[in-house]
Amino acid sequence: MKERLQKLISRSGLMSRRKAEEFIRQGKVTVDGRLALLGESADPELAEIRVAGELLRFDSPVRTLMLNKPTGYICSMSDPRNRRLVTDLLPADLGRLYPVGRLDYNTEGLLILTNDGALAQQLAHPRHHVSKTYLVKVRGSLDRSKRQQLESGVLLEDGLTAPAKVSRVRSSGQNSWFELTLGEGRNRQVRRMCEAVGLPVARLKRIAIGSLTLGDLKSGAFRLLTGTDLVHLKKSAGL
Ligand code: URA
Repeated sequence: MKERLQKLISRSGLMSRRKAEEFIRQGKVTVDGRLALLGESADPELAEIRVAGELLRFDSPVRTLMLNKPTGYICSMSDPRNRRLVTDLLPADLGRLYPVGRLDYNTEGLLILTNDGALAQQLAHPRHHVSKTYLVKVRGSLDRSKRQQLESGVLLEDGLTAPAKVSRVRSSGQNSWFELTLGEGRNRQVRRMCEAVGLPVARLKRIAIGSLTLGDLKSGAFRLLTGTDLVHLKKSAGL
């Protein structure tokens, strides 16, 4: 059956649909030896589809896993600066998996990786508002006024943040610890929100995505998601 090329490419697990569109536009995709056009459909059983020269295959099983990302790794498939990649932490025989969303180089914690392009897109889409919870350590004291600002909305250069939830606040010495749950995911959002209320972030760890929690997974370790995890995760995305 014919399907749009970008959909086929993401279903094969090679890359996301958006990235596939980019590749098609850049002339890196061929169908039966000729350059593919964006919007074109093909039958994967009949056509020979190549992406950057690599033959598209559909025999890798769908895999989704969670990783406890340590600091000092980037959430990307390659890096011009040669920094360590989160995929370096996974055995090669799992095949190519790509991260759903990003954690900063200096952020640790729960990261989902998958070769299921459709799931990746659904979880990452802002429309689905999958909540994310972070354990935050800041320098300074999270007083009532700062907490209220974080919860009701902080004005950042890209606009006011949506309502958020702060919980489990505690302090030790010059620092405070708390959990922050966001329903949106802008670039470096937690760090920017905390900085905007005068609390520089000293440590940041994502501990939950929707109903999926990091639990006691060790730093640098991963586990495959179970069917039940996936059902709950999809429910968190309203799917
Ligand atoms: N917010 C941040 O500031 N950084 C992350 O990595 C994730 C959320």
